[in-house]
Amino acid sequence: MSFRNLLLCTTLFSTLVARSFAQEQVHLSLTGIETEMHVSWAESTGTCSSTGTVTYTPLNAVNSQYTQTVSGKSYLYKTGMATPICLWDATMTDLQLNTPYTYTLSNGNRLTDITFNFTSAPDNQRSGGKIYAVYSDLGMMNDISLSQIVTEGTSGMYDMILHSGDYAYDLGTSYGVRGNDFMNALQPAVATVPYIGAPGNHEHAMNFSQYKSRFYAYSTLAKNSQSTNMMYYSFNDDLVHFTSIDTEMYHYCNGTATLCNEQVQTQLDWLEADLAAVDRSKTPWIIVLGHKQGWMDSIGKANWTVIANILDKYKVDLYLLGHQHNYQRTLPFFPDGTAEECYNDDYSIYTDCTAMVSIVVGSPGCREQISKGSAPASVSAKLILAYGFAKLQIHNSSHMHFTWEEIAATEDKVTGKLTRRVDAESDDLWIIKNSH
Ligand SMILES: [Fe+2]
Repeated sequence: MSFRNLLLCTTLFSTLVARSFAQEQVHLSLTGIETEMHVSWAESTGTCSSTGTVTYTPLNAVNSQYTQTVSGKSYLYKTGMATPICLWDATMTDLQLNTPYTYTLSNGNRLTDITFNFTSAPDNQRSGGKIYAVYSDLGMMNDISLSQIVTEGTSGMYDMILHSGDYAYDLGTSYGVRGNDFMNALQPAVATVPYIGAPGNHEHAMNFSQYKSRFYAYSTLAKNSQSTNMMYYSFNDDLVHFTSIDTEMYHYCNGTATLCNEQVQTQLDWLEADLAAVDRSKTPWIIVLGHKQGWMDSIGKANWTVIANILDKYKVDLYLLGHQHNYQRTLPFFPDGTAEECYNDDYSIYTDCTAMVSIVVGSPGCREQISKGSAPASVSAKLILAYGFAKLQIHNSSHMHFTWEEIAATEDKVTGKLTRRVDAESDDLWIIKNSH
């Protein structure tokens, strides 16, 4: 073997070792407690290291007295996987509020340490209020929005990323390799800001095993919001009470009819109790995440009406969902399907509405491409059949600003400079409420 080939083999071996011995799929989640941040990561080595720790410290700490270390818990996940992955979870506690932190993941001397940054809650120092990136139905093939989500998320443009179901297409595809690749692709962004989700139909395989394992962090949010099921939970974030619901239990239930009905009722009871307990003087806005709405398949209009009546009773402001692969938003409308006349001429400002607005953010890009399904015409305010994702900014207790933009860059062949296409689609909505 020539020296050059030997060097190439050595480099390749080192790369493979570094790859297989590095923590990966790092992502943050909240716990529902302001002074905590949850971090999850994986090892794709087929086994679990004996220890896994997170060391975290305020970014600008002048000495090490503020450095803390917490041990993680591991779980070797094998179901449907070509190679078992070790999933780690740990909660960073006793955080100073509104403080930038750095954190390092270590697994004894087996793995290379890896370091990220995040800012502790409530992180409400951004001029104009907190910003949330919003989408659902994001895959690894035809992933039109992925690079922009990662670039912007990593650069601090968002405080949180909200994903209303259907991940990777699918998390379990190719014996879990698709899920690993998806979580690694998002890692730069979701290791920096919390990644908050809800289950979609694409997670249903093996009783939602991939979703439940990779996002086990949501079990902490569930526990801290009195939910007995990690598939639905809630938490407060600055001026918003977020509630994430499971719309898939209506279609995918492995038990008897009695058991499935009980499961549905348990979520409804929890949802009502959760919304009834919201203190609107502290979190004036209520935003619900879920995957489907009543006009879509496999949930059923009657089932949805029961949910919609609860959301209406507690004056939920906004429902963020997906499933249909397009962008659309409704007028504020009541559970009986009638729109509330509280909007301006071009539907871009909703003022002092009492009915809920639904927005479908289902077209960041996936292998199933764009679909045409839409809300009933009587309540539809906007429908865009193009790829993109949304940003939501909570300015204050009375003003919420929602924007959606098509991913539509054209590249100058000489300079390589990217310019937004002049005919690119977009949407802009203000929701104004002088009382909640
Ligand atoms: Fe879906």
